[in-house]
Amino acid sequence: MSEPSDTMGRMLTTLAVAGYRSLVDVVVPLHPLTVITGANGTGKSNLYRALRLLAETGHGRAVSAIAREGGLDSVLWAGPETPQGAGAQGTVRTRPVSVRLGVASEELGYIIDLGLPQTDQRSLFSRDPEIKREQVFTGPFARPGTLIIDRQRGGVRVRGDDGWVSSTQAMGPGQSVLLDLTDGSALWETVSLRQRIASWRFYDHFRTDAAAPARLPQVGTRTRWLSDDGHDLAAVWATTAEAGRGAPLDAAVDRAFPGSRVRVATTDGSFRLQLQQPGLLRPLDASELSDGTLRFLLLTAALLPADPPPLLVLNEPEASLHESLIAPLGALLAEAATQTQVIVVTHSASLRAALARAGGEVVELESQGFGTRVRDQLPLERPSWHWPSR
Ligand SMILES: Nc1ncnc2c1ncn2[C@@H]1O[C@H](COP(=O)(O)OP(=O)(O)OP(=O)(O)O)[C@@H](O)[C@H]1O
Ligand SMILES: [Mg+2]
Repeated sequence: MSEPSDTMGRMLTTLAVAGYRSLVDVVVPLHPLTVITGANGTGKSNLYRALRLLAETGHGRAVSAIAREGGLDSVLWAGPETPQGAGAQGTVRTRPVSVRLGVASEELGYIIDLGLPQTDQRSLFSRDPEIKREQVFTGPFARPGTLIIDRQRGGVRVRGDDGWVSSTQAMGPGQSVLLDLTDGSALWETVSLRQRIASWRFYDHFRTDAAAPARLPQVGTRTRWLSDDGHDLAAVWATTAEAGRGAPLDAAVDRAFPGSRVRVATTDGSFRLQLQQPGLLRPLDASELSDGTLRFLLLTAALLPADPPPLLVLNEPEASLHESLIAPLGALLAEAATQTQVIVVTHSASLRAALARAGGEVVELESQGFGTRVRDQLPLERPSWHWPSR
């Protein structure tokens, strides 16, 4: 598959996770279209969640996102520290609690290491995760020569033209250099990384029940990207069509539901999505569509916006779609991947096969006692990666 031209150099090449749930130590190569697959319980959703957690850093919400997941204790790998200790329940930890997440492109990379505070037990927040370490680097992995920003607890140093300069700014335990570092010469890198990371879009199980937000009329405003809950479906559809990118949407609908066409009806500024189907005298409103039909339209709007986000990540997009919609879904994902980078976590063998035929790279996960591993990953196929020590 040819690389999307606008993301050359910016496309993520590596995702690395250590100590997060079943992901003890995983380094996954990423491609324009990456298909993450594997049996039940192998860690696919954990990988999706790890990437989403990293994205929260771009919004300054990594610490609260961990709290929402039940705190560090529940997101931390619950197994022994070494494979030799496998099966030994109740073994005491000797190493510090550490959840590490990192991504890199050919251009820039970022690592965050979260842990427990060295506590003041009197504080009400003594279980709040803390950012222990952060690194920003050029190129595909961190090396002493490629580091630009190196944060250790409260202290930050920034590499300038004349070498390292320690920042006078002290980082609070929940503050990230991406968001909060205002001092120093590496502002371009932090702003650029933050903007990119904050623009990643994640889609996981749209609600399609009778009261689902996507079924309700909404006040329409120009909307670039579909929200997680899909409430702005009609607005995104209209925005994409007005930007001159309606034809790919229509083609995707026609592939899935031959002869059918979506239109956006408006009354007094309120937008409703409707589907005109062959054999029906009137178009059906979003509130009347079947779950699978509505979900497919949501995926279409999410995947083919006029101006796509730099990364689209989907968890099990095939859920509740009939087998006959898997091929159209594959075509939709493959088309999206010509415009931007796409990561698809899937269960479905037929979707995986369709995406592999369309040029997607399949990464299969397996779980072998000591957490999640990438199946058949030879040492040389594991992207180079280096975690900093505390
Ligand atoms: N803190 C933790 N430490 C160790 N393992 C964990 C932790 N939290 C969750 N797990 C395990 O991670 C495994 C993988 O979970 P995940 O939800 O990613 O699976 P999956 O591949 O998405 O499966 P499915 O196909 O069923 O959706 C589960 O077996 C779960 O028990
Ligand atoms: Mg899952």
